[in-house]
Amino acid sequence: MAHGCYLMFFILSYLLLLSLAEEQRRVNLSCPSFSCGKFRNIDFPYSKRKHPECGFCLIDDCEKPVQKIQLGKDEPWFSVTSISQDQTVTLYDQVFQRHLDNRSCESFKNISLPSSPSISFEIQSYLTLFKCPKILGNIPMNFKMSCDDSMIYYNHPDDDDLPSLPPRCSLIQLPVAVSKTRYASDLFRLLTGNFSLKVRPNWRARRHCIDCPSRGGGQCLINSMGYLHCSNTESYEKNHRVNIFRFLPRVRPDVT
Ligand SMILES: *[C@@H]1O[C@H](CO)[C@@H](O)[C@H](O)[C@H]1NC(C)=O
Ligand SMILES: *[C@@H]1O[C@H](CO)[C@@H](O)[C@H](O)[C@H]1NC(C)=O
Ligand SMILES: *[C@@H]1O[C@H](CO)[C@@H](O)[C@H](O)[C@H]1NC(C)=O
Ligand SMILES: *[C@@H]1O[C@H](CO)[C@@H](O)[C@H](O)[C@H]1NC(C)=O
Repeated sequence: MAHGCYLMFFILSYLLLLSLAEEQRRVNLSCPSFSCGKFRNIDFPYSKRKHPECGFCLIDDCEKPVQKIQLGKDEPWFSVTSISQDQTVTLYDQVFQRHLDNRSCESFKNISLPSSPSISFEIQSYLTLFKCPKILGNIPMNFKMSCDDSMIYYNHPDDDDLPSLPPRCSLIQLPVAVSKTRYASDLFRLLTGNFSLKVRPNWRARRHCIDCPSRGGGQCLINSMGYLHCSNTESYEKNHRVNIFRFLPRVRPDVT
């Protein structure tokens, strides 16, 4: 019987160590602010490859002169030139700039920006274009330009008085150069691949994240569905804590 007690003691000690190790692993999931290349002290909604669960926007190429950013899972990569505290990020869409330099009608497509229940992005300075079939009559806007089968209409960037979108036309919003020397009559030089985005984690997601520390120092993590949760909420605990009782041998009543 004494032997049985010692055995039980060792098993329990071992299991305790296991659960401590698990606890350590959980602590390691926290999301400290990080540096990457020229960027210092960045945190949510940004993350780096080592901790993708810590943010929506992955920053990479930390060792290279120019860092890149991915605004969401499976989204294209852009070079990133600045990240600022007021939730704006400046990036360079090389593909779009190449289309512009090439004076290609491929330029006139919305830039792909992800949107999810938890975060959205908005181009800070954009120009609205109407892309219409050529057979359509004139539309009262400052400029027009023929491109392939379509006619592109737009106003001077300082003129925000848009007519309503005629049926069969599509609305496209593209980043516009902010310099004073703009070539309003040359659309390919008016638009730019260097632009800033306003990053908007939605207020509910943000509140959730602000709440995390008050719930015991937890961090805001992202699950595989793109939703946010605190690392220390109960469901997380339940999923990650080792249930030591799972390992205990089934005690069968002694056969007497
Ligand atoms: C994280 O894990 C490593 C070993 O895997 C350990 O050395 C470290 O103390 C842990 N905790 C933190 C907070 O980094
Ligand atoms: C520029 O456009 C031409 C004709 O559409 C195309 O063949 C060429 O590959 C384009 N160049 C670049 C750099 O995209
Ligand atoms: C382009 O983006 C704008 C703004 O998000 C949207 O209103 C418009 O419908 C989009 N156009 C197309 C053709 O998807
Ligand atoms: C865009 O920005 C990048 C990085 O700052 C710069 O190298 C490039 O020349 C810029 N291109 C244009 C068209 O402004």
